[in-house]
Amino acid sequence: MQNSHACRLLTNWDADRGVIELSLELDQGEPISGAQLATTSLFRIHPECRIEGATLTDQLSNYHVFAQPKGMQLLAGECWTIRADRLSHVLRHYSYGPKSAHLILRDGTTCPVTVEPMTRNGVPGEPDWERLEQTALPKGAAPLSVIPAPFDAEVAGRRNTAPPLVLSPEASLAAQKAFSAVRALACRLFANEEPLFGHGTGHTIATADDPALHGGAYEIAFDAEGIALSAGDENGFRHGFITLGQMLRGARLRPDEFIVPATGMIRDQPRFDWRGTHLDVARQFYSMQDLVDFLDCLAWNKLNRFHIHLNDDEAWRLEIPGWPALTERTAFRGDGELLPPLLGSPAERAGGFYTGGDMRALVAHGTGLGIEIIPEIDIPGHCYCVLRALPQLSDPGENRIYYRSVQYFPNNALNPAVDATWTFLGDVFDTLVDIFPARYIHAGADEVAEGAWLESPLARTLGEKLFGKVETFSLQSYFLKRVQEMLRERGRDIAVWEEAALGGGLEVNGALLVAWKESKSGRALAQQGYQVVLAPAEHYYLDMARSTEWWEPGASWAGTVTLRDTYDYEPGSDWPDEFRDKLAGVQTCLWSENLATPGLFAHLVYPRISAMAETAWSASGRKDFDRFRAIQDLMPVSHRTAI
Ligand code: ACM
Repeated sequence: MQNSHACRLLTNWDADRGVIELSLELDQGEPISGAQLATTSLFRIHPECRIEGATLTDQLSNYHVFAQPKGMQLLAGECWTIRADRLSHVLRHYSYGPKSAHLILRDGTTCPVTVEPMTRNGVPGEPDWERLEQTALPKGAAPLSVIPAPFDAEVAGRRNTAPPLVLSPEASLAAQKAFSAVRALACRLFANEEPLFGHGTGHTIATADDPALHGGAYEIAFDAEGIALSAGDENGFRHGFITLGQMLRGARLRPDEFIVPATGMIRDQPRFDWRGTHLDVARQFYSMQDLVDFLDCLAWNKLNRFHIHLNDDEAWRLEIPGWPALTERTAFRGDGELLPPLLGSPAERAGGFYTGGDMRALVAHGTGLGIEIIPEIDIPGHCYCVLRALPQLSDPGENRIYYRSVQYFPNNALNPAVDATWTFLGDVFDTLVDIFPARYIHAGADEVAEGAWLESPLARTLGEKLFGKVETFSLQSYFLKRVQEMLRERGRDIAVWEEAALGGGLEVNGALLVAWKESKSGRALAQQGYQVVLAPAEHYYLDMARSTEWWEPGASWAGTVTLRDTYDYEPGSDWPDEFRDKLAGVQTCLWSENLATPGLFAHLVYPRISAMAETAWSASGRKDFDRFRAIQDLMPVSHRTAI
């Protein structure tokens, strides 16, 4: 039976009535009856929704299965239409609609369904990529094609751009290591272009070790004798070589606008120590090559932290020795699997996980580029799939669904009162510290649902004993403090999302909180004594759509995030001076519900990530949006395959 039908799913959002219409068109094949339509999307049908034309037979978060009405026969050339009048939220972009679909036929086999982009009031939602990319860029705004903008540059004249940059044979070991890494990086990023860095003849870069230049700072002097780069360590040399490579590339590709200077001086240093991005590899799986390509792009932006979100309700991606069921059952989704298809995955088992060896290779790749990998295991919430794969982690007395997460997953929090939770987490943290050398291990603490644990007899006993009451966020605080202690015993500090401060929070000493809810939330956390990374959703969540247009892909719960919204954000501008030492830096976040194809990833991530990188590195007085826009299209874009 498989593939004997050709079907398309057409979806329309009737914005005036708040009704979604799903129309399955059978283009060819035998009549279909007794079948079910399964779809993944970003909307959820509300429990009080009225559904016409089908019965909802299964739902997990935004996965829905609709059964054909009894007696209905769908003939070739006909449409089966389903209407639902109450969804979880208003649909603002075509990308909220179905991302994948399949039919489950009467005999249990599945049949793929082609998904058309959702229309609004009948108007197509297909993004117009050409139109999206065509924005008139200001020209001639800057002679140096360097992003992020250097701290100080006084330069003049121009140098021949034909020869590559080569390293003086007298360079120190630190300079040699940095040069080799940047030469290899540029070869990977710009494989089809003339090499920027070479051996033998070219513009020889003399290097000098200057311990006064620390924290990644460097200086470049240009004069008639050549180019001289000074830095205090490998990071500084790497940054200097990247700056030189960016200048040479811009001057070669756009000689009317950019130069490699003949004379002058560049003095440069980063504004923040923490210049990062997060990537959710749970909602979508990214291959090792995707991750390596992405790190390469981060390095060219002088970013130095990669926060990898390794699990969520929809998947767990890191192999944990001794717990084979975890990745076997949760790293792959599909029809008949523990996890159904979600967020664009197909009926067939699809997904993947990383072995310890994979992640060690990623750490090594990052280290060569000055990027530290911060692993995140998101606990106690967002653990639906963990609890399904490892039922021994649930309190057996917690025997009905009594709370749901924001994403509508039932009972999804690890239970602090179940002993097996701590055995499991001990093994998880042993694995993490063995693989990842970073000071911080990120333990999530994201979006624990109000009401979690309240019907767990074990958790109730624990709450009464500890606090004389049973309350979700006091128990969360107990849970996270215990995690903090486990990490300390293993020589690490805890990083978490900002909700970790609820219910009593953490011990502030050594704890780093990522503030995401809005730009001012970090200030209150700093006031409490936490180290803070600012990642405000309304500026730095790059899964938010870039404009309000229907055809613009992305989410909108934090509003629309234009390039300018990202660029203009000034971290800590409303903080009093006495808290400033608490501001570790900034990062973008890439929640991957919408990053399901290479094109979508590229469109949502670039160039906004470079806009954040400029704020992360450059002194605020050096920021200039026109200058940035004139250069940003020279920045590399990673191309990836995502499931
Ligand atoms: C988050 O966006 N829930 C950290």
